[in-house]
Amino acid sequence: MSKYCLKGNNVTDEKLFHQRRAIIKSSIAFSLLTFSNLVFPNIKSLSFSKDLKYSTNEQTNTLKQITSYNNFYELGSGKRDPMINADKLNTNNWQVTIDGEVENKFTLDTDDFTKKFPLEERIYRLRCVEAWSMVVPWIGFELNHLIKLAKPTYKAKYISFESVYDPENLPGQKRDTLAWPYREGLRLDEARNPLTILSVGLYGRVLPNQNGSPIRLIVPWKYGFKSIKSIKRISFVENMPDTSWNLEAPKEYGFYSNVNPYVSHPRWSQKRERRIGEFRKRETLMYNGYADNVAHLYEGMDLKKYF
Ligand code: MTE
Repeated sequence: MSKYCLKGNNVTDEKLFHQRRAIIKSSIAFSLLTFSNLVFPNIKSLSFSKDLKYSTNEQTNTLKQITSYNNFYELGSGKRDPMINADKLNTNNWQVTIDGEVENKFTLDTDDFTKKFPLEERIYRLRCVEAWSMVVPWIGFELNHLIKLAKPTYKAKYISFESVYDPENLPGQKRDTLAWPYREGLRLDEARNPLTILSVGLYGRVLPNQNGSPIRLIVPWKYGFKSIKSIKRISFVENMPDTSWNLEAPKEYGFYSNVNPYVSHPRWSQKRERRIGEFRKRETLMYNGYADNVAHLYEGMDLKKYF
């Protein structure tokens, strides 16, 4: 008998083996259930259609991975802080203001997100500037639907987004780690691209707080920090707006921030990425794999200059 074989009295008989498997399986199912109850305390599910045109069929990351490894500086700067401090974000009576260079200024509350817009599940790759990535089954609607309601004037060239500002309750906003409120921006044609969505849920339920409840932006061909969470204000503007990371470190984070393996971050390469849950690194794709849909937006631009 080779030394790698199990000794006779250590071999589990088949019946016991199946019993143990059943116990392990049910305890995994139980812990998944309790985990999902923890993440989704009110478990409000959403009705939506599944998008086939823009969704990737790659394996999605688990709910646990998507909700326990986050960047949300308002809730702390560690990856687990947003999960730990999730209850510090108060989403009651949430209103989003739409204003600026538009014919129709209006506000939206959380019921409007589901009543006014057609919700779809969009399975997108998310590539973070820190060279990790995930695949997330977002639920949301195209930002362009909201743009059509707002009717931008001829002056509107960009959209500026602003997150929640609540330093009394949000632990990260008690310090000036970033210029608060968190701000982001898009050129109007980027905002109108059908890939750009406002997400209100994931995995069939309303967004967990750590992922930017009740509404956040998703721009899948840009580094994750462009996908601003917990939005309070959407303003149509004439000039390129300020963004929090560009104000913080202009040499590291430009306005465009398109995923680009050929332009390195000043402190690390962007050529490869680690998909959360995987060991071997993957090659990063130009525009995060969405080049067919968006490369035309940047034709003729020097992408080293406009990074
Ligand atoms: N939005 C706000 N308001 N505050 C933030 O700190 N972090 C950004 C982005 N949106 C951030 C934010 C960064 S750096 C990333 S990578 C993504 O959110 C992460 O989204 P996720 O936690 O849902 O994966």
